[in-house]
Amino acid sequence: MRLGIIGAGHVGGTLGRLFEAQGHDVRFGVRDPNAQAAGGLPRNRSGSVAEVAAFGDVIILAIPWNAAKDAIAAAGSLAGKTVIDCINPVLPDLSGLALGTTTSAAEEIARLIPEAKVVKCFNTLGHTNLANPMFGDQKASMLFAGDDAGAKLIVSELGNQLGFDMVDAGPLTQARWLEAMGILWITMALKYGGSQRSAFKLLR
Ligand SMILES: NC(=O)c1ccc[n+]([C@@H]2O[C@H](COP(=O)([O-])OP(=O)(O)OC[C@H]3O[C@@H](n4cnc5c(N)ncnc54)[C@H](OP(=O)(O)O)[C@@H]3O)[C@@H](O)[C@H]2O)c1
Repeated sequence: MRLGIIGAGHVGGTLGRLFEAQGHDVRFGVRDPNAQAAGGLPRNRSGSVAEVAAFGDVIILAIPWNAAKDAIAAAGSLAGKTVIDCINPVLPDLSGLALGTTTSAAEEIARLIPEAKVVKCFNTLGHTNLANPMFGDQKASMLFAGDDAGAKLIVSELGNQLGFDMVDAGPLTQARWLEAMGILWITMALKYGGSQRSAFKLLR
């Protein structure tokens, strides 16, 4: 599958490496491909946000919330594409979310690209756990939410390939609570003495 990842930082870089290892064709959409090449990202794997958005069947948004509007504008048409939104709209001091409870970053993004199929995923744990979702003999759960069944199937399969226990949390409005889980993880792990080697698990 052709994956276009917008943002080549902690989350985008990690997901890109992991999906490439699964045999996917991965490209990174960055603001300055030349600077990224200098920083170690292979030039043939990166391009402008517009180029990579056009390339991918699936687009992964791995950018800060305050960059989302610009990046989506730069992407051009995302009609018909599955867009995986990993964003947690955290305030800079981690005191809360920039929006929530009655909407979510994912819903606001979906409003900007109504022709795309937005799925919230990969936002409920720290990026260092993405490469190793096994905790003892338990798989970490990865919850996702979206309105398009086909897009959710794709995201579920991608998460399965990384070794997660994929959990369909329902429609995209559920992203409100997945983003709340995101900041719950962040504050526990980074502010209140919890472990960064941690993840949520849904027990049935
Ligand atoms: N870190 C985590 O463990 C974690 C876990 C779950 C979810 N998240 C969420 O995932 C997102 C990315 O987090 P991160 O930790 O990967 O951030 P990061 O390491 O700071 O990387 C952010 C990336 O976004 C790029 N970027 C910024 N503005 C852009 C724009 N307008 N157009 C294109 N690219 C742009 C940056 O490129 P430049 O080099 O050009 O600045 C950088 O490659 C955030 O929304 C975060 O809340 C993070």
